[in-house]
Amino acid sequence: APPLHEALTPLAWLVGTWRGEEGTGDYPTIKDFKYKEEVKFDHVGQPNLEFSFNSSHYETGKPLHREKGFLKIQPGTSHLAMVNTQNVGIVELSEGEVKGQEITLESHTIGRMTFGKDPAVTKIQRTFRLVDPDTLEQVVHMETSATTPAQHHLSIQYKKVA
Ligand code: HEM
Repeated sequence: APPLHEALTPLAWLVGTWRGEEGTGDYPTIKDFKYKEEVKFDHVGQPNLEFSFNSSHYETGKPLHREKGFLKIQPGTSHLAMVNTQNVGIVELSEGEVKGQEITLESHTIGRMTFGKDPAVTKIQRTFRLVDPDTLEQVVHMETSATTPAQHHLSIQYKKVA
C-alpha cells in the first residue's frame, strides 16, 4: 500500500477495518433496535480517506443501512469534510473538526431523491472517538422533517479487526 498522504496524519488513527457487534439504535418515532456494523477506512495515497459503513441485522445478519464516501481535511487546519452516499438515497455533506482522536461532524447539505420516503432527514450529527487503540466509537444524532431538534439515532463501539 502507498504511504498515507501527509495531509491525513490527523486521521491516521481511523485507518483499518472495524467491527461493531452490538450497536444500539433508537429514535422517538421508531422501536429500539440492535445492529452490527463493519466499517473500513482506507486510502490510495491521495489526500482523502475513503470509507464504507455496512450495517446488518443483529439476529439474522441481513444487510441494512450502507454508506460509502470520503473524508477530506482542509489543508493546514483541523477542519474536515465528509462526503457520504447512503443506500437509502441520501447524500450527506458534513463538516467539523478533528481534535486529537475525536471527530465531530454536522451536515450542512443533505441531498435527497425526489421519490424518497418521509420523513426527510434534515440534519445529521456524528462523533467518532478512539476509546482505546483497538476501540472506535460512533454516535449519530439526526433531525427529520417530523422530529426536531436533533435526537439520538445510533451508538456503537467497533473493535479493530485489520
Ligand atoms: C429508521 C435515517 C443509519 C437502522 C430511520 C428513519 C430515518 C433514518 C429517517 C425513519 C425515522 C422515522 O420514521 O421517523 C438514518 C440516517 C442514518 C441511519 C440518516 C445514517 C446517518 C442507520 C443505521 C442503522 C439504521 C446504521 C442500522 C441498522 C434503522 C432502523 C429504523 C431506522 C432499524 C427503523 C425501522 C425503519 O423504519 O426502517 N433511520 N438512519 N439506521 N433506522 Fe436509520
